[in-house]
Amino acid sequence: MLIWQNKNQLKHLLMRVRIFDDYDSLSQATASEVINLVKEKPHAVICLPSGSTPLGTCQWIVKNAQQQETDFSKCVFIGLDEWVGIGKENPGSCSYFFYHHFFDPLKIPEQQIFLFDAFAKNWSEECKKMDKTIAAKGGIDLMIVGIGMNGHIGFNEPGTSFRLLSHVTDLDETTKSVGQKYFPQKTHLSKGITLGLGHLMKANKAILIANGKNKAQIIHKALKEPVSEDMPASIMRKHSNGFFYVDKEAALLI
Ligand code: F6R
Repeated sequence: MLIWQNKNQLKHLLMRVRIFDDYDSLSQATASEVINLVKEKPHAVICLPSGSTPLGTCQWIVKNAQQQETDFSKCVFIGLDEWVGIGKENPGSCSYFFYHHFFDPLKIPEQQIFLFDAFAKNWSEECKKMDKTIAAKGGIDLMIVGIGMNGHIGFNEPGTSFRLLSHVTDLDETTKSVGQKYFPQKTHLSKGITLGLGHLMKANKAILIANGKNKAQIIHKALKEPVSEDMPASIMRKHSNGFFYVDKEAALLI
């Protein structure tokens, strides 16, 4: 159980933490955030993560978009991150996830999609290109992120500066081993290219999504431990429009 020294801190945080009955309602609520934004602002810039957590959100967006005929043709999608050296034909790549579960079913025009190139020849240029694209599009309106078992956001591993924009990073041992779950066979993972937490802080709205018992401990830490670069997800508490969307299981320890 959390021991909150400061009741105001607790009240403030609880307003920012939405607990859903199950994964499906969490996914539906997250999908609604995206759909409502696109309806209000057709040119919205949206950043999405890949992985197990956002799968339900993507499915709900695709379902609702088809039923409600939401027009995604003008909005801009930014991929949060990519495994260095893993191409989009590999089912474990972030690009594969985005195309397979989101861009292709929604028929998002190619010119509206901005993903990191896992084989960029010049990493510094690749990062600058992404940062310039985001700036040129007017900044990120909605940034949805997951949380790693070590508290990472994107590939911002523990110890990463909160101020960084796009960068290439050495993956943490936890990320390398947990990441195997996305791949059909054992895959060498060493580096990642990712948006930085500087992007998260600049986004108009940020939502961290988490589900399942295995995320309960890390959600507890992200909410309770001091805000620190050692616990990247704790930065969400500093975002003026940042929310935690968690299901009951992930909220077990809060
Ligand atoms: C993926 C990403 C990662 C994941 C995190 C949680 O694009 O940025 O930070 O969000 O590792 O992954 P899942 O959702 O598979 O538990």
